[in-house]
Amino acid sequence: MKKRILTGDRTTGKLHIGHYVGSLQSRVALQDDYEEFILIADVQALTTHFSHPEMINESIYNVCMDNIAAGLDPEKVIFIQQSMIPAIAELTIFYSMLTTVNHLLINPTIKTEARNYGMGETDGEFTYDFSKLTYGFLGYPVSQSADITFCNADLVPVGEDQIPHMEFTRRLVRHFNEMYGTDITVPQTKLSTTPRLAGLDGNAKMGKSLGNAIYLSDTPEEVWDKVRNAVTDTNRITVKTPGNPDVCPLYKYHQTFNAGEAENIASMCRNASIGCVACKKLMNTCLNSLLDPMRERRAKYENNRPLVKEIIQSGTAKANEIGNRNIALIKEKMHVAL
Ligand code: TRP
Repeated sequence: MKKRILTGDRTTGKLHIGHYVGSLQSRVALQDDYEEFILIADVQALTTHFSHPEMINESIYNVCMDNIAAGLDPEKVIFIQQSMIPAIAELTIFYSMLTTVNHLLINPTIKTEARNYGMGETDGEFTYDFSKLTYGFLGYPVSQSADITFCNADLVPVGEDQIPHMEFTRRLVRHFNEMYGTDITVPQTKLSTTPRLAGLDGNAKMGKSLGNAIYLSDTPEEVWDKVRNAVTDTNRITVKTPGNPDVCPLYKYHQTFNAGEAENIASMCRNASIGCVACKKLMNTCLNSLLDPMRERRAKYENNRPLVKEIIQSGTAKANEIGNRNIALIKEKMHVAL
């Protein structure tokens, strides 16, 4: 019996190369040794994008296609649409009874996101704006615990920002099992070892809202446009000035996407035997050799949306078989089943 992995993406847009290095890459590597569930988190997307449901619908397709383009085999992994799993909704409500508001308020990822979405602000110390902080947003870690445990996932591969949610889940599930005598699996965290990919514009984060993301679905022209505008060592005034790769955002990309050549490039930069434009062209080639096979895999699905819908719906049906069975057992243990 293979162990079960569950991980997910919010449907707030297309996935970018930061998602690829931070998580998709490891999903691809794990797909043969684990049974892999990929949750398309449309309900969680609504916690911040509730006023734009139409973009969420389009993103459901994009998130699925991006995962397949990255190398996940739809014959092996199971794609699940979160809003279509009643067991997740039910479990969220049961879990919420054991969750204190305070436990949610202290979650550092919730604080960061609340600030980013205007539900709080940092003026020295962070404070919530309780007239803006929604119940649904504050409670999404509870819903995420249900995402992970409705199918008794063993392992959750995540980036560092998700650690508070994993700690929250593990504690909640232990408490729940103790209280009701259930046997819900306490999930293990598999932390991604790659550091977060910074933006080529020098911003610490790559993100849609920052306009600095290179999407897995970008055309070669779009990629070059972003790479061409990359920030390099700002003290390097001419090609003849020696550069310092340690402060160069573009160089970080060479370390990530061109690891074999990175040291060589660093020494050429330091002795001014390579210029920034040439260095950008090299990176452009690297990124396209990463993205070309993704573009190829994606094309078949991009031109056949009914096929993508079929993949999501059949995966969701499989997950519901498991979820419905588990929630029935849980309700029995809770004495709410007649
Ligand atoms: N919160 C995750 C993110 O923002 C997405 C997510 C939703 C998730 N449900 C999950 C991740 C369950 C792992 C497991 O990236």
